[in-house]
Amino acid sequence: MAVMDTSLPKIDQFLATLDSAVADGSFVRLALRLPFGADETLKSVDVKPATIRGELKLSFTFHHQTRDLVQNHPPAGAIGQLKRLMEKDFRQAFLFTTAFDLQFDSQGKSPRLKHTEPTSKASASLEHDRAKARPIPAAGKAWLTELGVTGADGTVLKAAGDKFRQINRYVEILGPLLKAIPEDRLRRVVDMGSGKGYLTFAVADYLASKCMLSTEVVGVEFREDLVKFCNETAEATGVSNLSFSQGTIESFDSTGADVLIALHACDTATDDAIAKGIAAGSELIVVAPCCHKQIRREIETSNRGTELDFLMKHGIFVERQAEMVTDAMRAMILEHFGYSTKVFEFISDVHTPKNVLIVGTKTKRGKDASQLRKLADAKAFFGIRRHYLEDVVGL
Ligand SMILES: C[S@@+](CC[C@H](N)C(=O)[O-])C[C@H]1O[C@@H](n2cnc3c(N)ncnc32)[C@H](O)[C@@H]1O
Repeated sequence: MAVMDTSLPKIDQFLATLDSAVADGSFVRLALRLPFGADETLKSVDVKPATIRGELKLSFTFHHQTRDLVQNHPPAGAIGQLKRLMEKDFRQAFLFTTAFDLQFDSQGKSPRLKHTEPTSKASASLEHDRAKARPIPAAGKAWLTELGVTGADGTVLKAAGDKFRQINRYVEILGPLLKAIPEDRLRRVVDMGSGKGYLTFAVADYLASKCMLSTEVVGVEFREDLVKFCNETAEATGVSNLSFSQGTIESFDSTGADVLIALHACDTATDDAIAKGIAAGSELIVVAPCCHKQIRREIETSNRGTELDFLMKHGIFVERQAEMVTDAMRAMILEHFGYSTKVFEFISDVHTPKNVLIVGTKTKRGKDASQLRKLADAKAFFGIRRHYLEDVVGL
């Protein structure tokens, strides 16, 4: 242990000890507790060492009431950040090293330091576990940089954090479903309403680099500028199993689409996407819907003055009702066409409020007429004349 300069204020002695522990590799972790700062949502902070792209960083996890935020700092910057947190936000700090533990406590009149035996004699693992766990890592992916998700150094840009998590979560769920499909029936994946191509690139990359498959991935998008940008980006970054087709989902020939995916295709565009998957007999249809305007309009207009009027009074309930009814009916129609369905939240609503995923897996060849009877009952109950998906699948 480095000799402490006891003439320094206690906070500086604590931070100097941390600095030495980081430098000699004995630093295990640090915890900030007993919050008193202006941000009442900030409950605690944990800090651990991590090697990120070959460089030692201190990885901070800020535990807020409803979410965790992670920041990685070089050691020098981290010490300054910790000093501010200890002065303004937390009364206690615990430093754990392989040689000793050190506690800083500013609850009394003057701050105190206390040395104790080490809780852990084992060094911290320097592997950056978050990066390791993701199907699409941030580093080393030129396409992520071109799409504005990561900077040139491979770190996720602040404004793109939610998108990065969304596509990773989507691929995390999609991965095992794709692997369950025999290779000869996994020749083509189509992403409907591909936009700037975040998900399309992610799936193409995952299939090529994690599954070692040459499956072709196609993005369908009506905005010409986005299609041009995505095709140029795929070429420039060497994602060779990927292309983008300009046009509407409705007019796209989906023959041979073994897997149909969509992420936030607006309103009935999600229905058009599902219909294209059903028409192609896709093995797998996975959609995260966006807004639910068509059914919302139907529910709103036909329930004024009925026993459901009390719900229609509040926009938020109409919105939620429309979402549930639209997606539950989509699932029924998929079941009718021989798909086993699961509907669930694929990511926390902190990252996107549009967080429901409908997964349809083709399990039967025939049709299940009982689903249409249930659909008719549900439509009658909610006063819905037609679900747009009925029209596009020819029911
Ligand atoms: C909300 S964005 C989502 C983009 C992308 N899937 C993502 O999550 O990043 C929806 C995209 O679908 C496209 N789109 C909507 N309806 C479409 C249709 N009927 N045919 C083709 N593209 C459509 C829009 O132009 C837009 O780029």
